[in-house]
Amino acid sequence: MKIIIIYASKHQTTQECSLILQRELDGEADLVPLSNVSEFQIKQYDALVVGAPVYYGKPAKEVRNFLEKKQKLLLSKKIYLFLSSKEETSEYFEAYPQKIIEHARAKIFVGSKLEFKNLSLIERLIMRAIKAKTYSDIKTERIRDLAEVIKSDLGYNK
Ligand SMILES: Cc1cc2nc3c(=O)[nH]c(=O)nc-3n(C[C@H](O)[C@H](O)[C@H](O)COP(=O)(O)O)c2cc1C
Repeated sequence: MKIIIIYASKHQTTQECSLILQRELDGEADLVPLSNVSEFQIKQYDALVVGAPVYYGKPAKEVRNFLEKKQKLLLSKKIYLFLSSKEETSEYFEAYPQKIIEHARAKIFVGSKLEFKNLSLIERLIMRAIKAKTYSDIKTERIRDLAEVIKSDLGYNK
């Protein structure tokens, strides 16, 4: 069984979580930014993990568009979803196509980070206006648990 982890990440946190997952999967998964992934490539895999950051109340737009456009193909694969966001509300997943949500074998929050030095000027102004502070809270144990679910699902534990 081949696994691909596809992610979007403006400020590297979702990328960092994806790298942790890849490590926890003992290198059995390929890791590709969404911007570099092709339909041909996806067809080579049995299982897909899709990681997205949440901005302004929704998972990143490119990930929503990807799940919408490639829905038919993705429904023929095993899929696992994770979000990197400060808040953990199930509404964030509801921005994804209903069929994808129902089909996903896991939907988890992996924690998040906010570092002002990584933000654009506009983002910095917005974060200052809402009095957001720099923080780092990646939930490594949840990423490890997700890796265990995937491994057992795909028979890697035998
Ligand atoms: C511009 C901006 C908007 C954000 N909006 C939300 C939000 O609506 N809800 C939330 O829970 N977290 C929000 N966050 C926190 C991000 O989801 C969190 O920092 C995440 O780890 C970013 O992932 P990335 O580093 O891969 O871009 C926001 C962060 C930024 C910079």
